Amino acid sequence: MNCKVMGITAGRKNSNCEFLLKEALMACEEAGAEVTMINLRDYNIVDCTGCTSCTKSMSEGKYTGCILDKKDDKKKIMDVMLAQDAVIFSVPTYDLMPCATYLSFAQRSLSYETAFLETIGAIEHKDRIAGLIAAGGSTRSWQSMALEGLQATMFTTDMKVVDMLLATRVPGNGQCLLDDALMARARKMGENIMKSIATPPEERTWLGEEDMGWCPNCHSNALVLGEVQWDGLYYPVECQVCGAGGNLEPDGKGRWKFVIQKDGLLKDRTTVEGRAKHLEEIGRTQGGFFANPENMKLVGERKQKYLQKKFRGID
Ligand SMILES: Cc1cc2nc3c(=O)[nH]c(=O)nc-3n(C[C@H](O)[C@H](O)[C@H](O)COP(=O)(O)O)c2cc1C
Repeated sequence: MNCKVMGITAGRKNSNCEFLLKEALMACEEAGAEVTMINLRDYNIVDCTGCTSCTKSMSEGKYTGCILDKKDDKKKIMDVMLAQDAVIFSVPTYDLMPCATYLSFAQRSLSYETAFLETIGAIEHKDRIAGLIAAGGSTRSWQSMALEGLQATMFTTDMKVVDMLLATRVPGNGQCLLDDALMARARKMGENIMKSIATPPEERTWLGEEDMGWCPNCHSNALVLGEVQWDGLYYPVECQVCGAGGNLEPDGKGRWKFVIQKDGLLKDRTTVEGRAKHLEEIGRTQGGFFANPENMKLVGERKQKYLQKKFRGID
């Protein structure tokens, strides 16, 4: 099949994340994909400064890129990544979540906010899919935010996640190679990615384990108690990743299931329409702040106390 698949990892060289990713990518290559693979550890990625100049320009209908574009390798990688039909991310779990090397890379993607750029005509729409692999030394228990953390970084570039794999109990260098079932599952991810690419975008669906996670919408395994949102919307229980709202109900087998209520996907973060609700929130909250000159004056006065106060640092 004539298509492009890229693998992005942030694990140790010649270790679990790289091997799992290569197994998945080999399945893609065998099915005819043109494959690229990088390890983020080989590149220089500077942290997002939080300047938001990218989104400020976008809200004025302009694409100015990122102020760091010429300072590191992010743009070079994104130019290739955004031209792919599919990307498989394979990231080690550090402190329950994706490691910082990956997060620094992903959190530099604001200037690539695809829905925004498509709206202002700066880029053409492209349907992309993603497969996510998280590898850690422990079971799910000590990787509780690993896949969910990866999922959360897919929204900005509008990647549709069709499969996820949590590689558990592989703390040692390359230890995954002793687990045949795990390696076979990584290969299956490659096959699933190719199957999804061959499916028309509007018909693409989740290809991982049907019963994976709590959330029937995004398959995350993380729920939070709902709180009243900025516009008054309230759900008793929310999916931590996609924001689906509903409640827990007995599943008839002595356990609980998360049931999404009728309007529970109003703010589904996996869709462009759902994320647009968040842009509305930003418009009201941040826009409201800047629109009133009195706010700036008050902040200017009140911040003096903090500007003058200095604590001892570390030399
Ligand atoms: C700083 C650090 C923190 C870690 N934290 C966790 C953790 O919270 N949960 C876990 O399951 N494994 C944890 N690990 C283990 C790694 O996830 C594990 O060794 C994994 O296989 C690394 O992938 P790699 O071999 O591709 O580098 C941690 C490792 C390091 C170095």
